[in-house]
Amino acid sequence: IPVDPFDLVIFGGTGDLAQRKILPALFRRYCAGQWHDGVRILAAARSEHDSDAFRAIVARSLAEYAPEHAGQDDLRSGFLQSLDYVQLDAGADPGWDVLARKLTEDRIRAFYFSVGPSLFGPLAERIRQHGLATPQTRIVVEKPFGHDLDSARALNATLAAYFDENQIYRIDHYLGKETVQNLMAVRFGNMLFEPLWNSQYVDHIQITVAETVGVDGREEYYERAGAMRDMVQNHLMQLLCLIAMEPPAKFDSDAVRDEKLKVIRALDPVQPHHIVRGQYTGGPDGPGYREVVGNPRSTTESYVALRAHVSNWRWAGTPFYLRTGKRLVARSSVINVIFKDAPHSIFGAEAGRHANTLSIRLQPNEGITLKVTIKEPGQGGMRLIDVPLDMSFAEALGPENHQAPDAYDRLVMDVIRGNQTLFMRGDEVEAAWAWTDPIIAGWQARGDVPKPYDSGSTGPGDAELLMKRDGRQWQGIK
Ligand code: BG6
Repeated sequence: IPVDPFDLVIFGGTGDLAQRKILPALFRRYCAGQWHDGVRILAAARSEHDSDAFRAIVARSLAEYAPEHAGQDDLRSGFLQSLDYVQLDAGADPGWDVLARKLTEDRIRAFYFSVGPSLFGPLAERIRQHGLATPQTRIVVEKPFGHDLDSARALNATLAAYFDENQIYRIDHYLGKETVQNLMAVRFGNMLFEPLWNSQYVDHIQITVAETVGVDGREEYYERAGAMRDMVQNHLMQLLCLIAMEPPAKFDSDAVRDEKLKVIRALDPVQPHHIVRGQYTGGPDGPGYREVVGNPRSTTESYVALRAHVSNWRWAGTPFYLRTGKRLVARSSVINVIFKDAPHSIFGAEAGRHANTLSIRLQPNEGITLKVTIKEPGQGGMRLIDVPLDMSFAEALGPENHQAPDAYDRLVMDVIRGNQTLFMRGDEVEAAWAWTDPIIAGWQARGDVPKPYDSGSTGPGDAELLMKRDGRQWQGIK
């Protein structure tokens, strides 16, 4: 469905995120016919370029990051024609009047802050000062949204001084992933799962986001952030919310976000012995974390595994095990819901213990597998085995109908449509920091040093122990 005409200003328009994600996403949506000529996309940045030079930069990025449209020259030149460039300094006046003149009256206007958080305040202030904000204006801010609760509160307060909450779009790109949205469809679109979705039937839940990439190229940021701030506070937290939340009354932004917020607020503080931190060491395929960041004493974690509890009626007593790490054996994001054993085995002790597991694969090879117990074929009595009921979305829908669009395609268009459902509300972000802050403070107070793990492994051995102590084990990453 095409969106209404809009003006989009991307601050930091020559930067990595804009070139790699935002502009290719806009281009793909343009090729899909979701918006038409007449839209204006203005990149604003400090460096000096004229519009043609900027278009040439973007053309190169499109070739690299939207290769599926290579050869569609008409579309590409149509898209490039909608681009313009304004040289501008976030903290000073030059450039702002030029930007003001280029904007169209009476249409949707979005300002995308693809810059560091220190510029959020100055940009918001200048937009107001120069009279660029209209009732149809929205702003988009990227992660990291703060470094801890205090800084997130300060950022929220700064933005709130210039914009209403319903104008502020805080991106967590995991929410834009097709399969992450599918979590809600699976839970609330089927009768099958929801009656069992509670501590009476679910033994525990595992959320794994394993990556093969390291931190190369982002050393400075990552050394200050670590896996807890970089991944757990936002992406894993969002997955946990979607898995644990109560059904919202409708699929609307505040109804969904209210329910997610309740989950975060119901999280117990995490006990120190329920967390494992790790840091990768070097191997045949690359240097270790400390070498990459150039700090031989770094205590920043590139891996976290922890056990969390959502203390509410539905989940009391059901642990949520979360883990994420860099330079692991495979790239795999998966949620495993492990159901309880049947209360009584009519087949006797030798039939063994069998628990159903629902695996929701977020990436790659998106799909759902349900492990069910059946009789082992043959004459040897009633032996039971587990077999997968396997559904790969690509196979079930056919590859042509199963294109997992990039998260940014969805999110950028939602900004234009004015739909905040897949964006984080200020109170959600603060609640997430309120949960992670004491964990990080505890590490600092204890002088905690992360456990080394081999690049290409499944993480530190202590993460296995975390499970073993509870009589459980992680499902394989591969
Ligand atoms: C980003 C983190 O938010 O998400 C990165 O800063 C991480 O460290 C990335 O690699 C993972 O995203 P995806 O979409 O590749 O799973």
